[in-house]
Amino acid sequence: RTEPRPLWLGTSWKMTKTLAESRAYVEELGHTVVPEGVQAFLLPPLTSLHVVLDALPTGSPVLVGVQNAHWGPDGPMTGEVSMTQVRDAGAQVVEIGHSERRGLLGETDEMVAAKVAAALDAGLVPVLCVGEPWSVRSAGRADAYVADQVRSALADVDPDDVSRVVVAYEPVWAIGEGGRAAEPADVVGVLDAIRGAVADLAPGVRLRALLYGGSVTTENATDLLDLDLDGLFVGRAAWTAAGFTALLSLG
Ligand code: G3P
Repeated sequence: RTEPRPLWLGTSWKMTKTLAESRAYVEELGHTVVPEGVQAFLLPPLTSLHVVLDALPTGSPVLVGVQNAHWGPDGPMTGEVSMTQVRDAGAQVVEIGHSERRGLLGETDEMVAAKVAAALDAGLVPVLCVGEPWSVRSAGRADAYVADQVRSALADVDPDDVSRVVVAYEPVWAIGEGGRAAEPADVVGVLDAIRGAVADLAPGVRLRALLYGGSVTTENATDLLDLDLDGLFVGRAAWTAAGFTALLSLG
């Protein structure tokens, strides 16, 4: 990480938390000072977005966003919400292409690319998730697979706008219950491949941030942060305010 780039430390609550739980978490967090140089972000379920924004202290430096939104313009798309709608509701960030959506809900590379472009148009910070399944990793093809995901997701992005995109490398086999955090050695080659893909698409332009996610804990975070990374994207370990506070204290 080359200074003075901020250290991004964020969490997605995924499909957890009632409104009361969301409010309690943020109120507890309200007393936490986000260390200088840390860009914290919080992605609650859409149902809790308003509660989270309301419960954060005025002027909080924590970026708040959503875990998904549709690429299309407002109109007939039952059950979805658009990028402009989530922006209007107060989101600053939108997560795109998490492996749970790609793998379980049929989100394709084309849909991911359309969402990244729509997020940028709406003035949101896209957090683009990429990562290989175990079959690809064990076949030694992780670098090429992830580079292809990045190329495809950024295909419709103006090269100058690549600097507005955050990419989170999240190996599918490292995410969630039953996952195991990648060893730093597993990550290095893929990070280089991501940077290489970005350099091909937008020479001389740097991503807003390049993060790692997948079974991050306060125990393994320090080793991961020794890598050339701009931060960490955390699930379970930050589902309590105490967990998120412990994470932020790494900054
Ligand atoms: O988006 C973060 C995530 O996919 C990692 O989840 O629970 O393995 O930290 P977890």
